[in-house]
Amino acid sequence: MVNIFGVRVMLVLGVAAMCTVGAFGAAENAQTTASLVAETPKARDARMSWWREARFGMFVHWGLYSGLAGTWKGESTGDSGGKEWIQNQVKADTWEYAHEAIPHFRPKEGFAREWAQLAKEAGCRYLVFTSKHHEGFALFDSQYTDYDGADLTGRDLCKEIVDAVKAKGLRVGFYHSVIDWHHPQYDYEAANQLPHPLRGQPSPNGPRNHAIYVDYLHHQANELMTNYGPIDIIWWDYSKEGNDGPFWRADELMRAVRAAQPAIISNNRLYHIPDIEKEDSVARLKSWKPEQGDFTTPEQTVPSTGVPGVDWEVCMTMNTTWGYNEHDHAWKSTETLLRTLIDIVSKGGNYLLNVGPKGDGSIPEESITSMRAIGAWMAVNGDAIYGTTASPVEPPAWGRLTAKPGKLYAHVFDWPQSGVLEVPRDGRTVTKAYLLADAGKTALQMESSADAVSIRIPAAAPDPIASVVVLEVAR
Ligand code: GLC
Repeated sequence: MVNIFGVRVMLVLGVAAMCTVGAFGAAENAQTTASLVAETPKARDARMSWWREARFGMFVHWGLYSGLAGTWKGESTGDSGGKEWIQNQVKADTWEYAHEAIPHFRPKEGFAREWAQLAKEAGCRYLVFTSKHHEGFALFDSQYTDYDGADLTGRDLCKEIVDAVKAKGLRVGFYHSVIDWHHPQYDYEAANQLPHPLRGQPSPNGPRNHAIYVDYLHHQANELMTNYGPIDIIWWDYSKEGNDGPFWRADELMRAVRAAQPAIISNNRLYHIPDIEKEDSVARLKSWKPEQGDFTTPEQTVPSTGVPGVDWEVCMTMNTTWGYNEHDHAWKSTETLLRTLIDIVSKGGNYLLNVGPKGDGSIPEESITSMRAIGAWMAVNGDAIYGTTASPVEPPAWGRLTAKPGKLYAHVFDWPQSGVLEVPRDGRTVTKAYLLADAGKTALQMESSADAVSIRIPAAAPDPIASVVVLEVAR
């Protein structure tokens, strides 16, 4: 057991020492955004190509909050909402929080291999996990703080995860919070929208120096970008108006990240996030410059039209929390999760579906069950997801469409009782139709009219959640 008061003393000294060290990409290098990273559209497409094909990733929120599991000092903090915010909810300072949470954070051997195995089984092509969430506890081994997994457990948890994910042939990414409720120089009064458990109260350690915290942020990003081999995604969280890009010296940070990891793909939350949870916010979801990130991140909702013209990824929870909450039983059904994946892909986006492991790193049974069910479906129907693009037509009443050159995939949610499936033709000639679940690709009878093709389908749906009919098409 680590003596957290020992940790506290070391940390404060650590910060003082750290300030003298030059930042990762010095501040004086900061230039205008326009010249941030020189890249042709073709080079960008090449860099983005694996991500655009992947379509489905696993998000993992895991930190000290996971062990608390939504319970504070023996009492439930409620059955809904993001419990990775529990420290803010109970308004605990970092020492009280660490004191309560640390005894419950006990990573078991092999937890990372279980995550990677589940992601693989589910058909995810990438995994993004919290290198550090708002609480400030780093899963990686950081020389700039003692508030990290290595100092606590003697293991580099981040390395365990990265290695396990790569060993399964999956891409790996870091979710990294720019907000930090632990660092003594995180100046939560410096902007209007900076959350902190003690917000509204004077800082217990006197006036804070935001520049020192930003150096720390850059140093830790450097550690993440240089100590764990090739990293595929950096998923920042988050900036708001008043604490957007310049507040974090974002251009400099992005430039340094790309210099260390030239192929990395980044979300846009280091600069500014619009009202991501509002369905109608498509214009706002598109309001960032390409050099400020590669994709935009609608959260917990699927924009009805997708986000046309840009790369986007919906992140979503399986119940109502990102970090584990033992009181949250509002699990979405496999049907909902799978149909949401199909809906997103039919609109041209990616799906980053969250699991919140417990304090020992084990994933809740409900999440395992759903992930495996999605995986079983993907094993049969993955061709209709991976490498596909948005439907060329409006969603039909019976389900959704995805497309590939020469193919349309009809994902049928409501299997027609009439025995005939009508698929909008949109000027295409359909040359053959068959069930994706049919390895023999037996041609289904069909008839074309001006607008649609009518396909004779078997009486019973191959899959109660979504059955895929493949249409081979020519213009
Ligand atoms: C929000 C929340 C955070 C969660 C994230 C996932 O920004 O602050 O708790 O990690 O969304 O998208």
